Amino acid sequence: MNIIDIINKTKRAKPLSEEEIRWLVNGYVSGEIADPQMSAWLMAVCLNGLSDENTVALTLAMRDSGDVLDISGIGRVTADKHSTGGVGDKTSLIIGPAAAACGIAVPKMSGRGLGHTGGTIDKLESIPGFRTELHFAEFSSIVNKTGFSIISQSGDLCPADKKMYALRSSTATVDSIPLICASVMSKKLAMNADCLVLDVKCGSGAFMKNQEDAGKLAKLMERVGSGAGKKCRAVVTDMDQPLGCCIGNALEVREAVEILRGERKGRLYELCLDLTAEMLALAGKGDITACRTMAQEAVGSGRALEVLRETIRLQGGDARVCDDTSLLPQAEYTYDVRATEEVRLESVNCEELGMASLLLGAGRLTKDAPIDMSAGIVMHHEVGDLISADDCIMTLHSSVCSDFSEAARRATGAVELVKFRPNYT
Ligand code: URA
Repeated sequence: MNIIDIINKTKRAKPLSEEEIRWLVNGYVSGEIADPQMSAWLMAVCLNGLSDENTVALTLAMRDSGDVLDISGIGRVTADKHSTGGVGDKTSLIIGPAAAACGIAVPKMSGRGLGHTGGTIDKLESIPGFRTELHFAEFSSIVNKTGFSIISQSGDLCPADKKMYALRSSTATVDSIPLICASVMSKKLAMNADCLVLDVKCGSGAFMKNQEDAGKLAKLMERVGSGAGKKCRAVVTDMDQPLGCCIGNALEVREAVEILRGERKGRLYELCLDLTAEMLALAGKGDITACRTMAQEAVGSGRALEVLRETIRLQGGDARVCDDTSLLPQAEYTYDVRATEEVRLESVNCEELGMASLLLGAGRLTKDAPIDMSAGIVMHHEVGDLISADDCIMTLHSSVCSDFSEAARRATGAVELVKFRPNYT
């Protein structure tokens, strides 16, 4: 086998054999295949696609590049949820505790934010003291106690994805359906939960910008997951506006806690109930309607908040944030963006809003850049809302940037406002 033949085949849209795909992945992890060669192959996949059979083979080869966890010691049915990335998506902080409060276990491994999208690990690390790098024994002991734990991606899990994802980020080869599928599913299969719910984001803040592509990715992920023996369900959900009102690490933890305290409802709350219900139904807890009621009860009764509180405590964090969110990092500076006349919020470019939040310090452009946990944006309105003159559209938060002009310009450019004209009859 040789790499030139493999690149040429994919360049000419010819299928590879399973052996060729394993050889490619293993060769890249061992260093035998160099970055420029892997980049060329990834670009060929971006341009020509990959057959479903080859995508399955790529996913399994990537999964097998490192450890596959043995979580059979966790004494409950295990379920995992993955979102393909978006802006303001803090669903894992709500769904994990809610599902655990309903009797299943949610052992989760999550990533950090890159570019305009946030990462669950960064959000959790905004809680003072919270540790995300745990040994497997401690992780599974926490899952056994509370039903829920989240840790960062360990070095031994899917090294192929770690290396390939970094290369894709720097070679404009992220937005490919088979590559996203293989990247996400290899990690999920290495985590090895019994049930998988995949939340494929669609819209301006997502990798998939239209329903057709999002639907294709969802179907492909279900096929790969089921083919690997998992109970698997993929749903397509909206990312044409931020999920909830907060973007930014500590701000998003605050919003998740407020949802679990029953203080907030709306799109984020409803989506969390839907996804929790999908996990519970896959885990055999009942039909989808009964499972949604169960999830609602877990949040409404405060049992889900108790799971989060105990998990934070066991992972070394200050669990008092569940009662007093002012203990989370607070921005030194804030800036209100106000409407100059009466307008309707017509649309939001989520990616641009995510970039504005990054400029405030909430995200990173390079893998190891530091972030300001207090930074971000609070939206005071949703798409379709009428906003009066001088009303606040959004508030920008930062501790590292006292000059808001660039971030405010970007954030204002991300919202389309149309002058409100009343319809007299
Ligand atoms: N998230 C991942 O883990 N991988 C991708 O390729 C895209 C989103």
